[in-house]
Amino acid sequence: MTVRDVLEVEGGVPLSGEITVRGAKNFVSKAMVASLLGDGVSVLRNVPQIRDVEVVAGLLRAHGVAVEIDAQAGTVQMDPSGAGQAKSADILTHAGSSRIPILFCGPLLHRLGQAFIPDLGGCNIGGRPIGFHLDAMRGFGAEVDKTPDGILLRAPSRLQGMLMELPYPSVGATEQLLLTAVLAEGVTEVRGAAVEPEILDLVAVLQQMGAIISLETDRTYRIEGVDSLRGYHHYALPDRIEAASWAGAALATGGDITVLGARQLDLTTYLNYYRKVGGRFDVTDHGIRFWHPAGELSSIAVETGVHPGFMTDWQQPFVVALTQATGLSIVHETVYEKRFGFTQALRRMGAHIQLYRECLGGQQCRFGRMNYEHSAVISGPTPLYAADISVPDLRGGFSHVIAALAAQGRSSVTGIGLIDRGYEHFTTKLERLGARIRRP
Ligand code: EPU
Repeated sequence: MTVRDVLEVEGGVPLSGEITVRGAKNFVSKAMVASLLGDGVSVLRNVPQIRDVEVVAGLLRAHGVAVEIDAQAGTVQMDPSGAGQAKSADILTHAGSSRIPILFCGPLLHRLGQAFIPDLGGCNIGGRPIGFHLDAMRGFGAEVDKTPDGILLRAPSRLQGMLMELPYPSVGATEQLLLTAVLAEGVTEVRGAAVEPEILDLVAVLQQMGAIISLETDRTYRIEGVDSLRGYHHYALPDRIEAASWAGAALATGGDITVLGARQLDLTTYLNYYRKVGGRFDVTDHGIRFWHPAGELSSIAVETGVHPGFMTDWQQPFVVALTQATGLSIVHETVYEKRFGFTQALRRMGAHIQLYRECLGGQQCRFGRMNYEHSAVISGPTPLYAADISVPDLRGGFSHVIAALAAQGRSSVTGIGLIDRGYEHFTTKLERLGARIRRP
C-alpha cells in the first residue's frame, strides 16, 4: 500500500454541489471487448477514466488491437485489424486485476481459434464461479482446459449456435453468450438470461456491428449468427451504480448533490426506494438532483435482485444512509452470498447492524439454507464516529468513505486505490462537493 492509498476524511460536512458521471463501468469494459469481433475500427464515447478501462485496453493491445484513449474527451478508438495471438506473459500481467478477461473467450475463439484467459480478479464478495461461462463455451463447441495460471480454450472448427438455459440470470454469462453467439454458425437461444440496461446497451453495440439479436419478454435472447461484423460508434449509457452511490452520499451526509449525466430510466427502482426512505430527487434534462429534505428518514425493507430489481451494487451506500433512518430497516442480499463484509467497519463507527443467515424481509433465496450472513437488520438513527477503516471491495469501499464523511471526527480510510477501479476521479468530485479530505 502506498501513502497515496490512504484518504483522511474530516466528517460531519453535508456534501453539496454538482458532479458528473460518465459511462457505466460494467458496460464500457464489455463494449471494448466487443471491438475484437469487428472487421473495422470501433469508437466508444463517454468512457470514464477508471482502472478497468486500462485493464481491458492492456489486454486488447496484448492481442494486437491498436487502442487509442483520449481520457479528457472520454473516447476510446479500437482498431482490431492487426489482432493476433498474445504472449502469455503479456496476458498474465492482467491476472487477478478484473473479471472482464473471461469475456474475451468468444471474440478470441472467433478471431484466432484459441483463447488464453488468465486467473480472474474482481471483488471478494462471494465465490464468483465461472461454471456458466465454461458450460456456454463448451456448448458452442469449444474445448476448455484448465492450466496452472488460467484457462485455455480452443475452437477446432467454427463455433455452433446452441440452446442454453441459465440456472441464474448471470450478467457475465449472458454477455459471454451474446459475444460468442453473434458470430457462431446458426441460431443461439439463451433462456433465463439477465436483462440489465448495461447488457441491452451491449446488444445495441452488437446490433450496430451487424448482429441479429432479439429479446423476448421472458428473459430469452435469440441470436442469429452472422458471418462477419463491422466496427461501431457508440455513446455509453451512464453509470447508474455511481449515480446511486452519490445519491446515497447525499442522504447519509444530509446533503444535496446533483448528478449530471444520471438517467432516470436506469434508476427507476432505486428512485422508488429513495423516495420511500424520505430522500428527495428532481429529474432535469441533464441529470438528477438528490437531497435530504431535513427531518427524519424512514426505515424500509429492501431485497436486492437482478434487473429490474434493486441492484446489489446500490445496496452498500444505501445501507450507510439507512443507519440514519428511524426504526428497523431490513436488507436481504440475494445476488452475492458475502456482500455484507463492509458492515463490520460501520459497526465500529457506531452503526447498529446485525447480520442473519436467514432470508429476512422477502422471499427465500438461493442462500437461505447455505449458512451465509446475507440479511442485515439496521437499527437507527445512530450517530457515526470516525475510525481507521480499510476498503474491503469497490462498493463497500465507497460506502466506507460515505460513512466517514457522515461521521463526527477524522477518519482514515486505507486501500482507496481499489475505489479508483470503478469511480472516476472520486476524490476530485468529493472536493468539489465540499468534502474535507486529504490524500496524504
Ligand atoms: N454465478 C454463478 N456461476 C457463474 C456465474 C455467476 O453461480 O458461472 C453467480 C454468482 O456467483 C453470483 C450471481 O451468479 O452469485 C450473479 O453473478 P453475475 O454473473 O451476474 O455477476 P458478474 O457478471 O460477475 C456483474 C458486475 C457486478 C455486479 C453483478 C450483478 C461486472 C464486471 N460486474 O458481475 O458488479 O454486481 O454483475 O449485477 O459487470 C461491481 O461493479 O462492483 C460489481 C461487482
